[in-house]
Amino acid sequence: MKIQISTLLPGLMVILSLLGGASQAAATATVDVYKSPTCGCCDKWVDHMRDHGFTVKTHDVGNKEIRKKSGIADSLGSCHTALVNGYAIEGHVPAPDILRLLKEKPKAVGLSVPDMPHGTPGMEGARSDPYNVLLIKERGEERKDTTIYNRYDPYAKKVEQQAERSLPDQKPTNSSVMRLK
Ligand code: CU
Ligand code: CU
Repeated sequence: MKIQISTLLPGLMVILSLLGGASQAAATATVDVYKSPTCGCCDKWVDHMRDHGFTVKTHDVGNKEIRKKSGIADSLGSCHTALVNGYAIEGHVPAPDILRLLKEKPKAVGLSVPDMPHGTPGMEGARSDPYNVLLIKERGEERKDTTIYNRYDPYAKKVEQQAERSLPDQKPTNSSVMRLK
């Protein structure tokens, strides 16, 4: 019995494209970013997107006009607006959430992290605040009507880490006793 390579090829291509997954979505996606020419945190977010494999085109014309045109309410506004694969992305949204959006393809306007929370990609510093990534389902939807797509909470993470660190103190092991000698 002889199996022709040409009959296996289509199946092989499907498997390969499935393996490509999210990174392939990023590699083929071009993100158009609308921002002011003097916005430093916008540039840092652009770097964050490029680091995650996106091709980014910047437009230094501000974002008020494109935000309105995209159907994003002012209550969801931030410093820059990005367009990718028919979705609008407002503010410092982490790249992994955008990759998830492009993979799941929900019927929606896009995502927003309103304002500019400390600790978001492009807004790193000494301070990190909890924040939500919001899914905007309908054009013009107000902030209070959006759905939480993802939540980042640095405080919850700190409590977890402290709990992990305190474990060895509660249960001293033989190895820690040996090291004391
Ligand atoms: Cu910003
Ligand atoms: Cu910005």
